[in-house]
Amino acid sequence: MEDDFEEIKWNLKKYGQEHLLNGYNNLSETKQKQLLDQLRHIDYQLLNSLYNNIKKENTTSNDKITPIEYFDKEKLYDDYDVYKAIGEKAIRNRKLAAVTMAGGQGTRLGHNGPKGTFDIGLESHKSLFELLSDSLKEQGKKYGVIIPWFIMTSRENNDQTIEFFAKHRFFGYEKDKNIFFFKQGELPMLDTEGKILIGEDGLVKEAADGHGGIYEALVKNGMTKKMRELGVEWIFIGGVDNCLVKMVDPVLMGIAISKHVTAAGKSVVKANPQEKVGVFCKKNGKPSVVEYTEIPKEMAEMTDEKGQLVYGESHILCNLFNIDAVERMGNKPLPYHTAFKKATYIDKNGNKVVPDGPNAYKFEAFLFDAFGELDDMAILRVKREEEFAPVKNATGTDSPETARELYRKFYKLK
Ligand code: UTP
Repeated sequence: MEDDFEEIKWNLKKYGQEHLLNGYNNLSETKQKQLLDQLRHIDYQLLNSLYNNIKKENTTSNDKITPIEYFDKEKLYDDYDVYKAIGEKAIRNRKLAAVTMAGGQGTRLGHNGPKGTFDIGLESHKSLFELLSDSLKEQGKKYGVIIPWFIMTSRENNDQTIEFFAKHRFFGYEKDKNIFFFKQGELPMLDTEGKILIGEDGLVKEAADGHGGIYEALVKNGMTKKMRELGVEWIFIGGVDNCLVKMVDPVLMGIAISKHVTAAGKSVVKANPQEKVGVFCKKNGKPSVVEYTEIPKEMAEMTDEKGQLVYGESHILCNLFNIDAVERMGNKPLPYHTAFKKATYIDKNGNKVVPDGPNAYKFEAFLFDAFGELDDMAILRVKREEEFAPVKNATGTDSPETARELYRKFYKLK
């Protein structure tokens, strides 16, 4: 233990992070153990290189971006029934699992609690989690199966999420039998000098590693192993905040199976060239998503001979993956993107600092950065009003109000 402590100290000194032990003697024994455990597992080299790359991140890349082909669900004609039948057979044979990513902080919405517990204001006052579970159960029933549901949380919201489900008797699911919870990974936050922050609890201040952490979290937490035991071959991965998400789509599955691709993603047509969404594309010949912040204006506005946007297939975080692909992606590190955030911390003199504005770097991986690992990906264009009602902001676009209207319209509620 003593040796271990000295080794940690030595390592911290090596990476200029020795301040992390400043408050050690004032911590309880349990906290001391927790802190040492954190310090033992931090990848200091990775953090160093992330910090050194912060300034470089916005430099232009030489990536070759080209449009991606897609299927339009409305225009599949005779193939529609063929794909549907193939997908339905796989669903009946219990080849599908659903994953909901619910580890985000939901900063823009500002709800006090996990985003999935948010009531969007329907007459029923159902939470996002309940709306998702309703749809998943209904679809399962249609095919005579219970679709196993895997929910990714973060350290911050895991306990509250599980408590919420328990209070609602897991909406009819059985914990660890057909509903599973697992936590995503985290990375320490850095100040503008590259120093790791200590949080109010005296421990290293860590933040969820972005939705791109999903693959590693599924593998590391034994979820893909569990899925294999259940006979699952295909994994639908979606966000918690789209109350119209269709986690069970036989047509999408049928296309993926018959086209022999390892993934299939749904898109909706970009509402206008300026809409703040990422769009599917090919990057150096591989499937990818180009973020709205990265797409040049002329590219965003480019139209084809029919007047349609060339880069108009919005990525809506509704993707289906073969389990082999998920395991492959889960074992390969993804690049991290930097976000500058507001973070309360304890300074080196032991004082609590509550900043007025952003003061710390957070590192996040994006789910679609892994798409380049896929041989190919089928894109299925679906109707926005049927499948996409996101809850992102407290008011205005993509708010509870817009999502509620879309939900009511789709389900023909009053
Ligand atoms: P967003 O990128 O919209 O983030 O997540 P958010 O946390 O919900 O909201 P803001 O940006 O803080 O306002 C899209 C989906 O990815 C999940 C979210 O829970 C949501 O379902 N997500 C995001 C994670 O599971 N983990 C993360 O680290 C980030």
